[in-house]
Amino acid sequence: PTIHVITPTYSRPVQKAELTRLSNTMLHVPNLHWILVEDSQRRTPLVTRMLHESGLNYTHLNVETPRNYKLRGDMRDPRIPRGTMQRNLALRWLRETFNKNNSQPGIVYFADDDNTYSLELFEEIRTTRKVSVWPVAFVGGLRYESPKVNAAGKVFGWKTVFDPHRPFAIDMAGFAVNLRLILQRPQAYFKLRGVKGGYQESSLLRELVTLNDLEPKAANCTKILVWHTRTEKPVLEINS
Ligand code: UGA
Ligand code: MN
Repeated sequence: PTIHVITPTYSRPVQKAELTRLSNTMLHVPNLHWILVEDSQRRTPLVTRMLHESGLNYTHLNVETPRNYKLRGDMRDPRIPRGTMQRNLALRWLRETFNKNNSQPGIVYFADDDNTYSLELFEEIRTTRKVSVWPVAFVGGLRYESPKVNAAGKVFGWKTVFDPHRPFAIDMAGFAVNLRLILQRPQAYFKLRGVKGGYQESSLLRELVTLNDLEPKAANCTKILVWHTRTEKPVLEINS
């Protein structure tokens, strides 16, 4: 199957560095289609050029998050979703592009532009039948968060400290969805309004699967294949 990697991105000093690292990773992954969605009014020349020169198979989209959803100054409001409209646009693009009945096999993965992805991860997710899940390092105040898997290989809960009552207590980087399921559930999107911090992932997944359907990857969720790294904001002198 083709892996459709959906990445929201926005303009800031480190953007080109982030996209350079990410595209270098993806150049090693066979049969990959990168859907890069800019949070901007127009597709920017910087991203357009990078994609063109990357040699990757890609689709370049854009949608600007309305100002009232955006951060004020440097304050990070956890209730303000980041990248949500961009991921939803990519989901709509997939549904408009691929026919429900006669589509090529595909897997959908949401890869933020600042995380660190092992190549093994992309091989693991290729066999996703509905929704596959695995641990993610450095989220929710833990060295890693992980689905809890029983001896029979079934997910029965979540190893997390941040709000364990979430229906799917998992970071965006911790799951992949079969394209067929995305096409079969055309109403399934990330909720933009009224979603508490950490509930964004659940808002989509609850439309697609139940806990019982989840397929653990990464050796029954015992290996770390993705890290929720965050890039330090460089301190820049004015006029530099
Ligand atoms: C965490 C999760 O890992 C994200 O998947 C989730 O979207 C986010 O929280 C959230 O709370 O909404 P975090 O590292 O805090 O991630 O978020 P960022 O990496 O800053 O943003 C997630 C993605 O959205 C990135 O690909 C980023 O480039 C993009 N983004 C961020 C935008 O497109 N526009 C913005 O204004 C901010
Ligand atoms: Mn991030």
